[in-house]
Amino acid sequence: MNVMDAIRSRRSIRKFQDRKISQEQLDRIMEAARYYPCAANLQPLQFLVVTDCSLCNEIFSSLKWAGYLKNYQMERAHRPIAYLVLIGDMQISNHFEFCAGAAVAELMLAAQAEGIASCCLQPAEKNRLYPVLGLNPDRQELLYVIALGYAAQESNVIPMETGCRYYLDENGGFVVPKRSLEDTVFYL
Ligand SMILES: Cc1cc2nc3c(=O)[nH]c(=O)nc-3n(C[C@H](O)[C@H](O)[C@H](O)COP(=O)(O)O)c2cc1C
Repeated sequence: MNVMDAIRSRRSIRKFQDRKISQEQLDRIMEAARYYPCAANLQPLQFLVVTDCSLCNEIFSSLKWAGYLKNYQMERAHRPIAYLVLIGDMQISNHFEFCAGAAVAELMLAAQAEGIASCCLQPAEKNRLYPVLGLNPDRQELLYVIALGYAAQESNVIPMETGCRYYLDENGGFVVPKRSLEDTVFYL
């Protein structure tokens, strides 16, 4: 898959197949973790790859899925197979946002190129995850979680007309409004 195909086809997926991701695939996705651009090349990010069932359950229960939808439910069989947890190392820097955004984009596109779907989330109860994941709150900041798995739903883009809220279609697929190129890009 070329980069543009990965960019166009990647959507946030919130229903996954009960199908394992191989270690080789995880390794290839994680190879993307160390190439993100970063001011002063400080590279303050660390990445946890979580596949252990009980840890995945702990992470799952800290997340809020599809906040625009009322009571979006994910059956146990459709939960993510793995999570990537982005950590900021405060011994290196206190500014993580740009690096984290760039790294998340690269990781999600690397996953997409492997045929693996993803969703980036900000845990609502992240403090509860520090002891669970063995993080040191004095040194490490939990930034984002990326859920991974094979997609069990579609998600399609439509032109934004009435607002930015995504919704479900009659088949349980997401419909995601995106602003047009004309409203977004300006050649001077
Ligand atoms: C920083 C960030 C936090 C997000 N948090 C959540 C979240 O908590 N729950 C969720 O279901 N989706 C979350 N998303 C996914 C967005 O809702 C999604 O990217 C947006 O609706 C656009 O859809 P798309 O990714 O399919 O293009 C998050 C995305 C980002 C970048």
